[in-house]
Parts: sequence; structure tokens; C-alpha cells
Amino acid sequence: MGRRISMGAMGLAIALPLAMLGCIKKESVDPQASAAETTPPPLREAASRAKRHVGVALATWHFGEGRYAQVAGRTFDSLTPENEMKWDSTEPRPGSFDFTAGDSLVAFAVENGMRVRGHTLVWHQQLPTWASGLSGDGLHAAMIRHVQGVAGHFKGKIAQWDVVNEAIAEGPSGELRGDSPFSGLGPTYIDDAFRAAREADPHAMLFYNDYDIEAAGSPKSEAAFHLLERLKQAGVPVDGVGFQMHVDPRHWPSASEIQHNMERYAALGLAVEITEMDVPVGEIAGTPAEKLQRQREITHDIVAACFAVEKCSGVTFWGLNDEYSWLSDPKWGRLRGRPPHLPLPLDPDYRPKPMYFGILDALQGR
Ligand code: G3I
Repeated sequence: MGRRISMGAMGLAIALPLAMLGCIKKESVDPQASAAETTPPPLREAASRAKRHVGVALATWHFGEGRYAQVAGRTFDSLTPENEMKWDSTEPRPGSFDFTAGDSLVAFAVENGMRVRGHTLVWHQQLPTWASGLSGDGLHAAMIRHVQGVAGHFKGKIAQWDVVNEAIAEGPSGELRGDSPFSGLGPTYIDDAFRAAREADPHAMLFYNDYDIEAAGSPKSEAAFHLLERLKQAGVPVDGVGFQMHVDPRHWPSASEIQHNMERYAALGLAVEITEMDVPVGEIAGTPAEKLQRQREITHDIVAACFAVEKCSGVTFWGLNDEYSWLSDPKWGRLRGRPPHLPLPLDPDYRPKPMYFGILDALQGR
């Protein structure tokens, strides 16, 4: 973890006034963009006009690097901690909480007028060993204490919590996933987690967040819909559904399928958001320029589909630039086939890619 920086360095980045932040330079714009697109407005300005949010997942250990903090604060109006609010970061030992990294991201968000999406309270990954080894009443009690401890600490500072993340199995079963210790508690662990979160932070919107639920039809997607339907009917305090939208261009639903699916959740009275979007290009056919153009189209169409749904309140991209994407790690990148994936709106030098302009167009209703 050589790239981690001290909180002192991060504090310095946070302290930089906006006026010193610099901007995306005219000469640095991607050559794919047309001349008319050489001075792009920050996405957050267009989002504000559209009364939506445009967000980014940030990692504290990049804050000392170049223009990372500057570009993030200038471009986006919503922030999701990529790892810093997960269980292994916030409660590394039973009942012993550490909010250092999460607090610093919240401070950065306040400084830059950004909303915070809390991610995530109950998830089978990035669990400390002590928690993943629990079961039954011990695990249930630990889960409630964790939700209360974390949501309680950040009370009033988080706009939306991903309360439960990825509870449902991939594949044909449509059941709770087999590799999560929480599944052993039965489906009502989800109800209990949401109730504990509402009690700890009554004003945060509470989300169920998952991948491969973007379109109707698959066993996993139908199971997610029936889960949310059941939670609503049972009076569980759930306010929204997060569609992660880690696009795999080799097989991905159309924008209209995505919109129809979001509409059925909206009809349950739920907000919908795109919470972790990226669009890898490695498996898209064509020249590098054609790949980036197709990436722009895919992104535009999906973001526009979400914004066509009144209850779609925002879209978040899973990382600030191509270099810092989780898909740059070969461990994860191989899930999306051949690299390079270049899945995000900014290149490693923070130059806006064609994808950036696709998002702008969608925000501007074009
Ligand atoms: O913290 C350890 C560190 O101690 C160790 O030295 C280092 C060695 O590689 O690893 C560090 O852990 C890494 C962790 O991120 C924190 O940086 C893990 O290896 C790495 O696998 C982990 O990846 C994260 C992944 O979730 C874990 O499942 C990614 O950064 C993060 O982008 C990704 O985000 C998830 C969302 O939370 C949920 N939806 C899917 C999405 C993509 O997988």
C-alpha cells in the first residue's frame, strides 16, 4: 500500500481553495472531442441544472497525487468512499471503530459542496476475519452493532446509505448468496439491517445496492425486485435501489430495458440511482477511437435512460480516472475480458474523454 498518504497530506489537499484548483485545460482535451467541446463545463454544473447528482468514488490514498482532489471537487457533486466506509475499515476489531478515513472524505465533501453516498454497511466482502467467522445470534448482534455504530457516527452527514450490498446469488437460484455469512441468518437480516440504519440516522435515504439487476428477466434481477417488493409491503424503511452498472459490453441490456426496469422499482415508490458505473472498452471492437466513441454512446444512452425516470436522482462513476479504476487491477480486470479497459470519463491525465461528453449530453437532455 505504498501509495497511501498520511491524513496530513490529505488535509493539505482539502485545504486548497477552489480558486487554486485549476481546471481542465483547453489544450488537454481528448483529440476525439470536436472543437466545440474543448472547454467542457464541469459535470456538476449540468447536473445541478438538471436537478440530479453526478458522483464519483474516491480513495483517500490518492489525495496527495497531482490534481486528484482538485479535479474531483470541481467536476462532481457527489462522493462515494470506494473502500473507506466498509466494515474492514470502520470496525477492524469487534466493537472498536475507526472513522479516520471516512471522516476525511466527509470533510472533503463538505469543503466542496458534495453529497455523500455511504457505502456500505452490510456486505459479505471486505469483512474483517473476526466478523466473517461469526454465525447465528453472534453475527446478528455484530451486524446490528456495526450498522448502529457506523450509521450513528455519520448521522446527518450521509445523503444515502447502501445499507445492504449484493445479497443475492448470481446464477439460476435467485436465492441469498451462498458465500455470505449473513445469508445464514435468513432473509429477514435485510429487514433488520434497514431498521437499524433508520434508527441510527433517520434522515439518510436507505438503499439496497447490487449488480446484474439492471434489466428484468434474470433470476437474480427478479429476486431483487421481489425482495424490494416484500420489504416495501412489510413496512421496512427502504428508500431506494442502487444499480451498480458495471457494464460488460459483451452482454449488456439495452438502455430501454434498463429504463423499464427502473420504472418498475419507481412504481414501488423507490428512488433509483446508478451507483458504480463504468464502461470498459477492451472487448469493444474497432480502433481505439471507435472504442471510445462506442463507450460514449453506451454511457450516454444508459445515463439518459436513468434520467428519463423521474425518481432517478443521480449517477455515480466508480473511480476518478482510468488509472484508478478497480478494473486496472488484473485481479478484477479479467472479469471484463481483454484490457485495457479505460472505463471512466477522464483519462489518467484527467483529460475528458468522449464518454465525458456523452454524460454532459445526457445531463443536458440531448
Ligand atoms: O487493504 C488491503 C491492504 O492492506 C493490502 O496491502 C492490499 C494488497 O493488495 O490490498 C488492500 O485491499 C484491497 C482493497 O480494495 C482496499 O484497497 C484489495 O486488495 C482490493 O481487492 C479491494 O478492491 C476493492 C473491491 O471493491 C473489493 O471487493 C476495490 O478497490 C473497490 O473498487 C471494489 O468496489 C466494489 C464495490 O464496493 C461494490 N460493488 C463492486 C465494486 C467493484 O468490485
